[in-house]
Amino acid sequence: MAKHSTIQQPAAIIIFGGTGDLTKRKLIPAFYNLFLSKHLPANFAIYLIGRNEDTNEQFKHDLFDGITSFSRTGKPDDNNWKIFSNNIFYQQGNFLENSTFITLKEHLDAFDKKNKQRCLRTFYFAIAPQFIEATAEGLYKNKICNQVKLDRIVVEKPFGTDLASAKKLNAFLQKRFSEKQLYRIDHYLGKETVQNIMAFRFANTVFSPVWNNQYIDHVQISLSEQVSVGKRGGYYDSSGALRDMVQNHLLQLMCLVAMECPQKYDAECIRNAKVAVLKKIQPFSTADVFKNIVRAQYTAGTINNQPQLGYLEEENIAPASTTETFIAGKFFVNNTRWKGVPFFLATGKCLPKQASVIMIQFKDAPHKIFKDDVVANRLVISIQPDQEISLLFESKIPGVQMHLKPVEMDFTYKESYTEATPEAYETLLLDVLDGDATLFMRSDQVEAAWKVVMPIINAWKKFPKKNVLHYAAGTWGPEAATKLLKPFAKKWVVLPVPKK
Ligand code: BG6
Repeated sequence: MAKHSTIQQPAAIIIFGGTGDLTKRKLIPAFYNLFLSKHLPANFAIYLIGRNEDTNEQFKHDLFDGITSFSRTGKPDDNNWKIFSNNIFYQQGNFLENSTFITLKEHLDAFDKKNKQRCLRTFYFAIAPQFIEATAEGLYKNKICNQVKLDRIVVEKPFGTDLASAKKLNAFLQKRFSEKQLYRIDHYLGKETVQNIMAFRFANTVFSPVWNNQYIDHVQISLSEQVSVGKRGGYYDSSGALRDMVQNHLLQLMCLVAMECPQKYDAECIRNAKVAVLKKIQPFSTADVFKNIVRAQYTAGTINNQPQLGYLEEENIAPASTTETFIAGKFFVNNTRWKGVPFFLATGKCLPKQASVIMIQFKDAPHKIFKDDVVANRLVISIQPDQEISLLFESKIPGVQMHLKPVEMDFTYKESYTEATPEAYETLLLDVLDGDATLFMRSDQVEAAWKVVMPIINAWKKFPKKNVLHYAAGTWGPEAATKLLKPFAKKWVVLPVPKK
């Protein structure tokens, strides 16, 4: 976690979308774990606002099940659950009606009164994009979120659907709230292994001199998912992998690899350094898009010996949809450090397994003095599910002759630490309560990331059917994605990485 402080001030947490999937799978389990680790203040209240007509008992039962199934700590024990759940309240309400906000204000004022102070307020928008403005307006009009130092809003992705809508939403929110109150969440930034990229790069002298185009041949960042779109077809079909994963998670990882060392470890310096990378990413022409970006959709196949429907057969998908469930692309950062080094980014659903990996491929050793082929150094940062960093280097095989073989130096979280790894949402929610925006997206960052992907969106809009490839579920995507790597590499990294 970014901080280990415990928050002293009483805190009210309000979740819009209180009966949704995110609340059940991620938010409540994260708050529960923060409660267990005593990171929540002694006095807290969680108000869940949703449209369902749930009774108090029903929805608490649901939340209990959510923690049992999705929390890293498993089923809550009776005593802790009793204390925790006594602080959770359900309010049925429509985000489009002002009465919802009037009732909420009454609850929050009563909570302040009980605690004899104006308490911290965190408003979490776990809602579909079309409700964000109305909900923000309700908070603004009713003066519920009007104290810059105490009140925060967390906005889930997608933050807009393109540059214009993201700009519009930024302007709408910034007119009503201070930028300091806005926490645009990208949960990848809360992952332990992702936070470690900065520690690895900027606290270790040894990699710093070689972290540039003189020594690095290319970079691969791939976020492979085994899951299908499942029940999220309604959202996914108008999003696709580009908007769902590249505009946010993949570009953020690319920024962490490519950024300059920030002046200090603070929100503004770090976010400045990331924006600088995004602004230097070489823009694509329409022709570049079809040369450097591969898109594809899964067809029926088998994953883990289970049959998997094709994308077009999934729920809520338009019959002739061309939405991509796989994307691979070649990006360049036009600055002195990275000129000429391709960053290959890829992500897809229904792939053979889940693996998020960053691979830094170093160049060949300059002098060829050995008879054996020498494999160039390679650094693999494994984000999930394995959490490790490994460096591949050549070594002499013991024996009377000089023969070489690549070996690995490994650091694994499992072997090096006894501390439990918090879920990304635990870290991020605690940071919000703490008022630390380091791991959140600033408005210009979100817009700069949209600017990077806009040429792709526009090219696909212009030619909706051009080069839409297919891959069977349970395979590693279309062959064209592998060809994209040429002449830099023959394959995308998959874990475990073969040594040769
Ligand atoms: C979300 C996307 O932001 O990230 C999902 O909307 C995706 O489609 C998910 O499955 C992946 O996150 P994680 O943490 O499971 O790698």
